[in-house]
Amino acid sequence: MAVAAEAAKLRAQGVNLVDFGAGEPHFNTPRHIKDAAIDAINDNFTRYTVVPGIPDVRQAIVDRHATDFGSDYGLDEAIFTTGGKLALFNAIQILVDHGDEVILPVPYWVSFKDIIQYAGGTVVYLETSEAEGFRITAEAIEKAITPKTKAIILNSPSNPAGSVVSAQDLEQIVRMAEDRGIYLLLDECYVYLNYAGKPFSGGKFTWAKEHIVVLGSLSKTYAMTGWRAGFALASKKVVANLSKLQSQSTSNATSIVQKAAIAALDGPQDCVSVFRAEFIELRDYMLARLKEVPGITCTKPQGAFYVYPNISAYLGKGGIKTATEMATRLLHEAHVVTVPGEAFGTREHLRLSYPVTELNILEGVRRMREFLTKLE
Ligand SMILES: Cc1ncc(COP(=O)(O)O)c(C=O)c1O
Repeated sequence: MAVAAEAAKLRAQGVNLVDFGAGEPHFNTPRHIKDAAIDAINDNFTRYTVVPGIPDVRQAIVDRHATDFGSDYGLDEAIFTTGGKLALFNAIQILVDHGDEVILPVPYWVSFKDIIQYAGGTVVYLETSEAEGFRITAEAIEKAITPKTKAIILNSPSNPAGSVVSAQDLEQIVRMAEDRGIYLLLDECYVYLNYAGKPFSGGKFTWAKEHIVVLGSLSKTYAMTGWRAGFALASKKVVANLSKLQSQSTSNATSIVQKAAIAALDGPQDCVSVFRAEFIELRDYMLARLKEVPGITCTKPQGAFYVYPNISAYLGKGGIKTATEMATRLLHEAHVVTVPGEAFGTREHLRLSYPVTELNILEGVRRMREFLTKLE
């Protein structure tokens, strides 16, 4: 946030920044989705709806997930929310009590930590190895379990490193969580942006439904970040509690957005593969450019749209001791916006978001290389 605020100031002064900070697709929302929202307005579909979303939007959520991933949720096991983040926030509020522990693999998206702590929970960080592509295994999670463990959060593909929990590891984790009676929160924000193979979801393990909470988002899949469209799929009990909590905060998510979401989920899905293909090209282009910077190493992200290069070769040079200091200096001296690893629980990385043009990637990494190689 600090870097973003500084970047906004520089931009206002007319400085030409290359922005690798934003966590959103650079595409426009597809036409048919926008049309559905415009029609909803013109048809005066502008009143309150039932709190968890109209049956049609829940049906669309359930059907899309069943078709793509083999899950079998019913209408009363789905809730439409004002963005995936609210589904996550509410799920943690209803499941986590003061003193409960939640296992969170590192590196993590910062909101997980803050939301757990806001609910009074204790974050139990699960360290992973960069050399193993930040792999998360059932065995490692099991070692972190205590009598106070209430939930485990998995975000695959992940923000910030783009790492993917393999299908085998996921099945073992689901089995272990089910055996231990621990909730598994599956943040599927980037589920369609899985480049390791055909996208898959833990929601297909229907025998573990009591302990799985799928947290979904239309933001990245359909380039709809500003619309605030997300959902949760879980047992009836969990969804009833999510609905009860939502009834005292946002009530229903925007009626118009519900109609747009139906168009997105029920409509043609070619936009999803078009976006996915372009992200793969941009990832490869970004990795190739980063390879040209001496000293920088980077795991190959298997999904999402971030790279997470290790900058330890440059820490200690030019008076820069931390990733935050590096991001600040890059911003002011190279005019490149990055997010420092400390925000995600690691000290030697920067997160670069690559939904920009190849030209921007070329220029941004050139500026970084010029700055870094001059450090003494
Ligand atoms: C890992 C992860 N989960 C969830 C979200 C929430 O997305 P939204 O609230 O836009 O649906 C984001 C957004 O950046 C994210 O990176």
